[in-house]
Amino acid sequence: MATTTVDTITIDGHNHHRPHQQQQQCGPNYHIRYMTETDVPEVLQIWGDNNLHEGTHTIQSFLKVDPEGFVVAVDDRTGQVLGMCAGVFINPDTGFIGLYGVDPVYQKLGIGLNMWQKIMAHIGDRNAGLYAVPEHLVMYRDRAGFAREDSRQMVLYDGESVRLRDLVKSMDGIRVEPIVGDQLVERVVDYDNRGVHRYSRSRLLPGVFREPDSVALVAVDEYDDQVVGYGCMRTNNIGKAMAGPVYANNDALAELLVYSLIDRFPTAQTRGLLFMTLDSNPGGIRIADKLGLGKQEQLPRFFNKFVYTDAQWDRVYCIHSPNFAIF
Ligand SMILES: CC(C)(COP(=O)(O)OP(=O)(O)OC[C@H]1O[C@@H](n2cnc3c(N)ncnc32)[C@H](O)[C@@H]1OP(=O)(O)O)[C@@H](O)C(=O)NCCC(=O)NCCS
Repeated sequence: MATTTVDTITIDGHNHHRPHQQQQQCGPNYHIRYMTETDVPEVLQIWGDNNLHEGTHTIQSFLKVDPEGFVVAVDDRTGQVLGMCAGVFINPDTGFIGLYGVDPVYQKLGIGLNMWQKIMAHIGDRNAGLYAVPEHLVMYRDRAGFAREDSRQMVLYDGESVRLRDLVKSMDGIRVEPIVGDQLVERVVDYDNRGVHRYSRSRLLPGVFREPDSVALVAVDEYDDQVVGYGCMRTNNIGKAMAGPVYANNDALAELLVYSLIDRFPTAQTRGLLFMTLDSNPGGIRIADKLGLGKQEQLPRFFNKFVYTDAQWDRVYCIHSPNFAIF
């Protein structure tokens, strides 16, 4: 993304969008521009200050795929990032809205809505979805036009430690190995496409597999040398491990992948783990239970035009990201 393009979207950020005059006078003057990689630490700080989580290098991976899908509000005087919003197309038909947050000090000044409108202009007349936290569910559904609720919900599990004793630790004829080398990356991208998403994420996934502070593993059936699942785990903005995605052909393979990821990623055992499955997948819920994680919340998702259904849902054991991916 060219810096010049970033500058051209700068818009007036004075607080005259805010209906409450008293609060208008308290807010800083700001402008909205496209996010860059150097904004990410401040963005993750704001996200964490709102008790929300994302991987330390996940934003960078998605930013490369759809740079115009990320904006930040920036204080005119200090250059401080005040908030951010993303609406990313990784599928040509449907975008996903996430990372919508404002520094708690500067909330309720009109900054959020201003960024939101910029991102919705990027979505245009295409479809978009989002996960709704309970506090903002009514706002998204009744005011933002995200009225179509999916029957599937995301279940967020969390724990300070993990229990490995009940997980599948090995399977005859199945090899688990790191996703490295162009050929293997290509085969995993193909599995992700044909086996799960039904569209190619070839622009995204090679970067995801190379994210710093992360591990990416594939399960291969040695009998016919077929990819039968893969998974990633990374560090998040509060120093915990965060799984995602974990896609596999069956429950045992998914468990094997989760065990292998944790085995190679000590942060999960020393700092704890976040695991986000779908309520439609009993195998994903069973993995969270076996790990001894606690259910934190269950989040519905909403779409503005149509509910996105085209995927191999039974292979989704852990979603890729709560901010940038439908699953
Ligand atoms: C949600 C959040 C980003 C809104 O930002 P904000 O700057 O505080 O909100 P604003 O001041 O721009 O809101 C102005 C008005 O627009 C409304 N609004 C904000 N975003 C909106 C949207 N996307 N669609 C419709 N209305 C919206 C607000 O409810 C408010 O209405 P009111 O004046 O009747 O109270 C902010 O509250 C936040 O960071 N919350 C914590 C993080 C979070 O929960 N994010 C959502 C995760 S799903």
